[in-house]
Amino acid sequence: MSLRIGDDAPNFKAQTTEGDIDFHQWLGNSWGILYSHPADYTPVCTTELGRTAQLKEDFANRKTKVLAVSVDDLDTHFGWVKDINETQNCNVDFPIIADTDKNVATLYNMIHPNASTSATVRSVYFISPDKKVQAIITYPASTGRNFAEILRVVDSLKLTAEHNVATPVDWEVGQDVIIPPGVKQEDVETKYPKGHRIVKPYLRYTPQPNK
Ligand code: BEZ
Repeated sequence: MSLRIGDDAPNFKAQTTEGDIDFHQWLGNSWGILYSHPADYTPVCTTELGRTAQLKEDFANRKTKVLAVSVDDLDTHFGWVKDINETQNCNVDFPIIADTDKNVATLYNMIHPNASTSATVRSVYFISPDKKVQAIITYPASTGRNFAEILRVVDSLKLTAEHNVATPVDWEVGQDVIIPPGVKQEDVETKYPKGHRIVKPYLRYTPQPNK
């Protein structure tokens, strides 16, 4: 059965380029991103892993750990990492799982048989510190992911986990957010002391509470 938002993120043990890990222990109290790659030494994946390394501080500032999955073995990963560092001008120092038995790919439904019976698609799982799946995005092998969007989703997930708000279309940190429909209008002033504006009774904005 497919994993869905709100499900427990399955735990696993795996060999990675940064040593053996127990996924839940490795995550600790951090948010996590677990994302899959069709194969080593492929061009789109090379650019994605390079971008992940370049965004190291952006992920660290968000207390978010990143873990890549690829079904090739560790030696292949180490050779590929050298190429990524060279071509993308970066230093890959986050773990890449050597998922040769496809254990993680299977647990996380990263193989979509009608796309490919052996290679993973580009899945991204966003996992909260309580080890729940909070968001999932999936792209085909031919479409590289947008890492600005991945960071934006982390920002939204963290904000909405801590405050009773939702984020509107194309929201970025610092912009106004939405007061959820379940909040009664008579409670808005006390619950959103920074103020609010009503566009329609169901469309209400408030400044981002933690800015
Ligand atoms: C790539 O990562 O470049 C790639 C992998 C599989 C199919 C197409 C592109």
